[in-house]
Amino acid sequence: MSTKAIFAAVIPAAGSGTRFGGDKLLAGIGGQSVLQRSVGLFARRDDVAQVVVVTAAARFAAYRDLLAAVISAERLCLVEGGRERWESVVNGLAAVYPEIPYVAVHDAARPLTPPDVIAAAFAGAVAVGGAVPVLVEPATLKRLGADNLVTETVDRAGLYQAQTPQCFDRAALLAAYRELLAAGRIAGVTDDTQVFERTGRKVLGTRGSSLNLKITTTPDVALAEALLHVAQGR
Ligand code: CTP
Ligand code: MG
Repeated sequence: MSTKAIFAAVIPAAGSGTRFGGDKLLAGIGGQSVLQRSVGLFARRDDVAQVVVVTAAARFAAYRDLLAAVISAERLCLVEGGRERWESVVNGLAAVYPEIPYVAVHDAARPLTPPDVIAAAFAGAVAVGGAVPVLVEPATLKRLGADNLVTETVDRAGLYQAQTPQCFDRAALLAAYRELLAAGRIAGVTDDTQVFERTGRKVLGTRGSSLNLKITTTPDVALAEALLHVAQGR
């Protein structure tokens, strides 16, 4: 391991793609699958020593074959997922080599994250211990009651959308997950930054991007194709 390679990437890919209606990670965008792209984002970096992909054991062989095009077998590790995203992340973290000081947790469903977004989150984790790419919320936000009637306009000052990769000091993230699990306070955790928030640790908001789309529904594939053209035109 080079002294520069201080990051491991943990890529939760064990979801069921319910809203997509199938394995969205196998959808093609510009000639590569979503999974190949999201893994490739980290495989091509010389500050990343290891990539841990978390998925169902039944997919290991197929994913290993697919990923051979973007990462060497020595840097790739496949780990079984859990029912909730946080369980998948905890399983992935357990497989990170303990000599790697920092970890980036990145949704497999985000194939187009710009390199500067990753670099800024990495730098934030090294500086503060935790970092989350954020995007300013441009919309006017309404809260609706049970009857779909508007009850208020939410003040958007200080509100941001959270993206991934969320990056952390590896030992601190492990400790934070252990603390929440031991205290029975893990319920409702949907991203890793919440684990730092709930245990009183600092997370820096870093530069996000509107190109950093998370594939959720079928039309997102066409949207991602269009965003890829935008990104390539830069
Ligand atoms: N994920 C995971 N383990 C889970 C649930 C989700 O590893 N138990 C991963 C997904 O594979 C995805 C990321 O977490 O890369 C973000 O989740 P999401 O976009 O919600 O994907 P799915 O859970 O697959 O989609 P859906 O919620 O529509 O079923
Ligand atoms: Mg989900």
